[in-house]
Formats: sequence, C-alpha cells, structure tokens
Amino acid sequence: MSDSLIDRVRERLAAESAPLRPNVVAAAIRAESGGVLGDTEVLSNLRVLETELTGAGVLEPLLRAEGTTDVLVTSPESVWVDDGNGLRRSGIRFADEAAVRRLAQRLAAAAGKRLDDAQPWVDGQLADIGGGRFTVRLHAVLPPVAADGTCLSLRVLRPAAQDLAALTAAGAIGAQARELIDGIIAARLAFLVSGGTGAGKTTLLSAALGAVPASERIVCVEDAAELAPRHPHLVRLVARGANVEGAGEITLRQLVRQALRMRPDRIVVGEVRGAEVVDLLAALNTGHDGGAGTVHANSPAEVPARLEALAAVGGLDRGALHSQLAAAVQAVVHVSRGPAGRRVEEIAQLRRDGSGCCYAVPVWRADGAAGGLAAGGLAAGGLTDAGLAEAGASFRRLIESRRRS
Ligand SMILES: Nc1ncnc2c1ncn2[C@@H]1O[C@H](COP(=O)(O)OP(=O)(O)OP(=O)(O)O)[C@@H](O)[C@H]1O
Ligand SMILES: [Mg+2]
Repeated sequence: MSDSLIDRVRERLAAESAPLRPNVVAAAIRAESGGVLGDTEVLSNLRVLETELTGAGVLEPLLRAEGTTDVLVTSPESVWVDDGNGLRRSGIRFADEAAVRRLAQRLAAAAGKRLDDAQPWVDGQLADIGGGRFTVRLHAVLPPVAADGTCLSLRVLRPAAQDLAALTAAGAIGAQARELIDGIIAARLAFLVSGGTGAGKTTLLSAALGAVPASERIVCVEDAAELAPRHPHLVRLVARGANVEGAGEITLRQLVRQALRMRPDRIVVGEVRGAEVVDLLAALNTGHDGGAGTVHANSPAEVPARLEALAAVGGLDRGALHSQLAAAVQAVVHVSRGPAGRRVEEIAQLRRDGSGCCYAVPVWRADGAAGGLAAGGLAAGGLTDAGLAEAGASFRRLIESRRRS
C-alpha cells in the first residue's frame, strides 16, 4: 500500500468512534482507495494497519513473549527488551518518529489518559493487551521534554501468577526466607520490601499480601494501581497528579490519612518515595500493625538513611524519624536481581542502638553471612555465620511471641 494511502486511512480512522475492528479498517481502506483494490490487496493492507492500530502495535509480540518484563522505546530504531536477563536491543523498528508518537498517543487514549503537547507525559495502565493474560503499566513522554523523541516505557505485570507459592517454586524465595515471610505475615509485623529499580519489590509485596488471612481488610495506597494480590478483601486508593491547570492533585499523604478512616486491618503504601513516609509511620504507630510498603534501597542497611531523607521532605527530623521507625517497622525483605534472576536476597530486622538510631540486622541471607564472597568468612560489617544464625533465632522468637499475643 502506498504511504499516502496509509496516511489517508489513518486520518479517516482517527475520526472513527467505533472500535477499530477489522471490518471497520477494511471499509476505510476500500473507501480511501476509491474502491479500486481487490480483496487480496485489501487483506494485505489490512494486516499492515491491524498491527499498527490494535493492541500494542509492533510491540505486541515483544510484550507477549514469555518472560518479558519491560519494553522500552528510545527512538524509532531503538526498541529495548528485558526478558529477565537484562536489557537487549530487539530487532523491532518503527517506520519513523511519528509512528512512535502515534502508538504512544493511542495507548494513552486506551488507558483513558491524555497525551499531547499540553500534557506531554502519561502514566497509566492497560488491561486489554496480550489477550488479558497480563496488564501493562504505560509511561510515555513526548518531545521536546523527551529531548531525542518520544519515549515509551512498558512494564509487564503478571501479578496473579506470582503468589508466594509460585515465587518459591521458581526459586525466587528460598525455603527459609519463605518460612520467615510467612511468619512476618502471621505475626502481623510491619515490613518494607526494599530493592533497586525493577528488582521485583512490587511483585513480592503483592505476593506477600496474598498470604494475609481473608478475615483481614487491606487498604492499599498507590501512585499507580499496581498491587493486585489474590485477596478477597482489598481496597485500593490511587493518587493522581495535578491537571493541566495545576488543580486536582491527590497526594499519597492525603490518601494515607483517608485510609486510616476506612477501618483497615493493614495499611499498605505501594511505594514509599516521599513525605507520605511520615503519615505511614504515624499510622503504624497508632495501633495499625501489619502494615507494609516498598522502598527503593540497595540493601536493608540503607533503608533507615533512605527513609530519613524522605522524612526530611515531610518535615520530620532525624531523631523523630528514627524513634518512629524503630517503633513502627520490624522487618525489611530485600530483593535484588542478579545473574540468576530476581530473588529475595536478605531479610533484616530493624533495631535501635544505644543512641536511638535505627539499624538493620540481617537475620537471613540467601548466600549466608559472607554474602557469597567467601563462604564461612567475614563479610562487610563483621557479620559471621554464627552471628547471622543468632540474629535469625532471635527474630524467630519475636515472630513466635507476636503470634501468640
Ligand atoms: N521473581 C521473579 N521472577 C520473574 N519475574 C519477576 C520476579 N519478580 C518480578 N518479576 C517481574 O519483573 C518486573 C519488575 O517487577 P516489579 O514491578 O515487582 O519490580 P519493582 O522493584 O517494584 O520495580 P520498580 O522499581 O519499577 O517499582 C515485572 O515484570 C515482574 O513481573
Ligand atoms: Mg514497584
């Protein structure tokens, strides 16, 4: 099909309000070609346009491939894919920048969002891609904000398939880690899942929430609706940004406060990344135990400092943060992605030292005390296998005593 005919069909379809089913697209091709195309030509043109106009377009096969977690477009020639083994450049190409922009705008519209020069970025969720087997989190930015052209970031979310049992079976959670996570949930300890970008924090938190007894009511507060635990009693509150006029913003802080009034048995903040940490800790310290959240950190040891920085944004000083944190949160479950894939790397207990500062004590590590560096030897921080075992035993006693109370 000639480019000008494709353009005319596209324009005609842009004004079409009916869903772009094949018959609608075929009718547009026939009309724009003046009826001179035969059935075979209409059919081959239909295939070209169908790929472009339905699902995730040329990206659909990448999203559908087993194991794909992220698909990232940085330019028409650069489509990157992460299938669990790190990023690699795929063979998929867009015709030009306009084609990337068209797809970004169509996906934004499918997510019920706006994406144009006045609102040049979008964060949304797509449910009807991949035949409904997964949902996709969409982020897109248009130029000139994205200096080198439209950027698309798609994250595949397969939460339903990834409960604790599935993650354990896949080797992402070791047997002892699983036992500790079950204990943390059963004893209603408050915990944070820490890890780097894309390490699997949200997935693990979602799976852990699936293990919460059905008799408990979970209220989740999130920036984007990502958590989808298999749990019968879940309420999700989703924040939103200001509109183009700068009005209507709803913050995580406001939502944590609303959550408190909704008779939650557990309050969960999908991702703690700002001042809402202050409200979350306050909530956890006023009779709401068993809460949870994820936080970006490279190790459990870094979590107190990370929260300190976030709390400062919310006006909570260092001393107050540490005393609130020590009283509010008992455990940190750390996930990381290494050569063997994503897995639970460490579980730590938060304790308070003589000066009142909160610090993380490892109670379990996937590679033992040495973290795989030198088995049986000393790891950074002077942790020994015996020390780790002792901390683990003490943490298990905490779980047992909370379980009984
Ligand atoms: N154990 C696992 N095995 C295989 N895939 C996983 C595992 N954990 C997570 N994933 C996949 O990896 C991707 C990233 O996971 P997730 O969204 O949970 O990470 P995250 O740490 O919360 O990321 P972000 O930093 O963006 O919040 C998702 O597509 C998810 O389905
Ligand atoms: Mg996440």
